[in-house]
Amino acid sequence: MFVDTFLKAKENLEKIGYLDIEHSNEFDYENEFIKLKKSKDAVLLAHYYQNAQIQELADFLGDSLYLAQAAVKVKAKMIVFAGVHFMAETAKIINPSKKVLLPDLKAGCSLAESCPPKEFAEFKAQYPDAVVVSYINCTAEIKALSDIVCTSSNAKRVIHSIDRSKRIIFAPDKNLGHFLIKELNRPMILWDGACMVHEAFSFDKIVKMAQQYPRAKFIAHPESESPILDLAHYIGSTSGLLNYVQNDDASQYIVATEAGILHQMQKVCPQKEFIPAPVQDDTCACSECAYMKLNTMQKLYNCLKFELPEIILDQQLMKQAKVPIDRMLELG
Ligand code: 13P
Ligand code: SF4
Repeated sequence: MFVDTFLKAKENLEKIGYLDIEHSNEFDYENEFIKLKKSKDAVLLAHYYQNAQIQELADFLGDSLYLAQAAVKVKAKMIVFAGVHFMAETAKIINPSKKVLLPDLKAGCSLAESCPPKEFAEFKAQYPDAVVVSYINCTAEIKALSDIVCTSSNAKRVIHSIDRSKRIIFAPDKNLGHFLIKELNRPMILWDGACMVHEAFSFDKIVKMAQQYPRAKFIAHPESESPILDLAHYIGSTSGLLNYVQNDDASQYIVATEAGILHQMQKVCPQKEFIPAPVQDDTCACSECAYMKLNTMQKLYNCLKFELPEIILDQQLMKQAKVPIDRMLELG
């Protein structure tokens, strides 16, 4: 489905010569985008992992839960989604009649890709009595196979809503799954998926860094591996981490999640210091999500100008995938 959508959109883009369009150095993408947004009755939804310029332009900026809730409230005709494919897909499922644009259809997600629908359906069939809870970082096909969706912000609440007597399949993130099992003291059957950004953090280097900054608190996103989470003073979603640094009295933090969130942290706490947690590979910028960072100002402008690439999904699939999303949203 993802590949088909991508190829179809790419063909359309090539037909109109979109890929070759270049603007002069003086072209002000930011201002032109703002003008276009107004004239076309569009809104920009952006995740905290976007670059600072895109975050500053967003009409709705937040974590995965906030963006799904915001998608429900959108009155505009069109949504430009500065995030990754599963997020734009979720916004489309919530708003089937609106045009949802994703500036670069290659903006996928390693976690979503780690859970192919056919294999997941076979896995699910082994536990016919289990309730399926899927983390929002998955494809529409996986959502359609699920009973309820959750994000890292509301996962505990979602699981609490399921009767203790029921078995639970949790997919696709095994790290978030292990964290929830421990926190809630509730066994779950886990799918073996992970996010490559949150798995890149180095335990040894974080320990060394903590010695180097003895006053710093270490905070982490629950997509990180268990040994890393065991070191953390606080574990939470991107919004959770952002709230924590505002309400806590430390002045230095080592942050184990995608580095884009540091922009907001620095903005709301200008007097504090935020240090990205070190990764295993010194040669890469692995604490940046390469998929998230595919979105640029130029792509944002071009996608709104040509209203392409658009998220197009099968109507029946959207209907099925909406049920577990609505269940999550109803929980508040
Ligand atoms: P949250 O936005 O729920 O914190 O999740 C982070 C993430 O990995 C988004 O891709
Ligand atoms: Fe997916 Fe990880 Fe990137 Fe989030 S940070 S979009 S989970 S690859």
